[in-house]
Amino acid sequence: MPIRVVPSGASCGALVYGVDLSKEPSKDVQCALRAAWLTHQVIALPDQSLSFEDLERFALSMGPAGQDPYIESIAGHPRVIAVRREADEKTPLFAESWHSDWSFLDTPPAGTALYGVEIPPEGGDTLFANQYAAYEALPAATRERIAGLVGIHSARRGYAPNGVYGAADRGRSMAIVYSESAFRIQRHPIVRRHPETGRAALFVSPGYTIGIEGMLEEEAQSLLTELFVHQSEPAFVYRHRWTPGLLTLWDNRCLVHRATGGYEGHRRLLYRITIAESPALARTGEV
Ligand SMILES: [Fe+2]
Repeated sequence: MPIRVVPSGASCGALVYGVDLSKEPSKDVQCALRAAWLTHQVIALPDQSLSFEDLERFALSMGPAGQDPYIESIAGHPRVIAVRREADEKTPLFAESWHSDWSFLDTPPAGTALYGVEIPPEGGDTLFANQYAAYEALPAATRERIAGLVGIHSARRGYAPNGVYGAADRGRSMAIVYSESAFRIQRHPIVRRHPETGRAALFVSPGYTIGIEGMLEEEAQSLLTELFVHQSEPAFVYRHRWTPGLLTLWDNRCLVHRATGGYEGHRRLLYRITIAESPALARTGEV
């Protein structure tokens, strides 16, 4: 069956038909998937029926194994984590702030694959915002102002002992492990060049960017807030609707994303694998 790529019509996102990931994809199919991924930033393959081994093989075809600090993997599959919420769960929604996955790492992951298993009949959409488009739409004066600036990233707001998922977070079904290590910081250019496409993208998020190097707190927070408001304007956002069996792959280097709720009373379960940057590309590109 030929591969068919259907763009979402929004700023990013496409559905991809004609690939069965329960079988090892040929090199040609892998290249086509990578091309679609780099073009549309988030691609989704409906109606898959995948074992954990299938999911792991697919992730490896897209890049090296990534790491997942603060979330325990499922038994027997050290790369797979469960994104889970029980029907009666009352904890704050997981990942409701805009973010790029694990951007507080030295080399943040290139991509994330997420496979829908139990999907509520309504709610639970994932929002993706195109950060190439967000950067390109900035006023010239703002682009000049942020050129060469370095953002300070940290996991503390979520994963420190006093974070959203810290010691006071009780009754959560996801296997989150908070840690003092979340207070560490990592620096990344606010405008980062995508190592594969060469395009400039905004690389900040309210989830993980806590300051700007060399800038006073008040000025930094003011500028960051301006960027946070801009980066998730509706013009850049694609609303991703889940279905059981939908395998979704997004590019953390040119997108921010966030979870949404609206499915109280329903269980939701997806399996996730993080895809690291290829060593040859693992450099931070300042624009
Ligand atoms: Fe995420």
